[in-house]
Amino acid sequence: MSILDKHAILERNATLLLVGSLLVVTIGGIVEIAPLFYLENTIEKVEGMRPYSPLELAGRDIYVREGCYVCHSQMIRPFRDEVERYGHYSLAAESMYDHPFQWGSKRTGPDLARVGDRYSNEWHVQHLVEPRSVVPESVMPSYAFLKETPLEVKNVSMHLSANRAVGVPYTDEMLENAEADMKAQADPNADTSGIEGRYPKAKLGDFDGDPTKLTEMDALVAYLQMLGTLVDFSTYDDAAGYR
Ligand code: HEC
Repeated sequence: MSILDKHAILERNATLLLVGSLLVVTIGGIVEIAPLFYLENTIEKVEGMRPYSPLELAGRDIYVREGCYVCHSQMIRPFRDEVERYGHYSLAAESMYDHPFQWGSKRTGPDLARVGDRYSNEWHVQHLVEPRSVVPESVMPSYAFLKETPLEVKNVSMHLSANRAVGVPYTDEMLENAEADMKAQADPNADTSGIEGRYPKAKLGDFDGDPTKLTEMDALVAYLQMLGTLVDFSTYDDAAGYR
């Protein structure tokens, strides 16, 4: 009886075939899954990454709500043309606090992963209010209403704690101060020492051109201005990580 004939026994006995198939799938599964339990982390740690400040997080929500991701990606691929246009390619760790991530693949407009610090706040506001006033050939829609819409402040600490539930390391202190931090980040007269300690490199001051009102425009521009600015790539080495 050759080995292939023995296989016929399996083929004729449904229960045996089922048990045999399960055995094979289990072995395959263990080989693939078990090593993951022994890996500390599949994401390389990168200096500078921190959770979003409450104002940035609110801006990110508006970004998702308005479907900006439909036309904009947030992932710079490691290709020369991308790196020359947008800057250092995106690291996995740079979106480790994103729930959900905004990588995307549709680029009607440019990638936004490193748009922070590229333009002034005034440029962003003007562009979001009327894109064609700064980029005449733009097909981006106008989002002028964001400037008129007051930013919803309540429940922001619940939003932070929801993120904490999925692994973002917000501390109790961050949760307690969430509402105050959100207002203070966009208020040029506020005491911002707390924010600066909790959220290093957070952009401070008025964003939408009207310091008296906290609007959705403030939050969205605060978010755009931090994108890609947390990691200092002058000290990052592609091959070896940090120098
Ligand atoms: C219908 C597609 C579309 C949507 C939706 C869209 N954009 Fe754009 N966006 C574009 C295009 C096209 C450009 C390039 C022309 C320009 O600068 O206006 C652009 C440019 C930009 C730029 C300038 C990027 C750079 O590097 O010059 C920013 C910032 C931006 N968009 C933010 C947003 C935000 C925030 C939203 C959501 C509120 C949004 N966009 C929604 C199409 C879109």
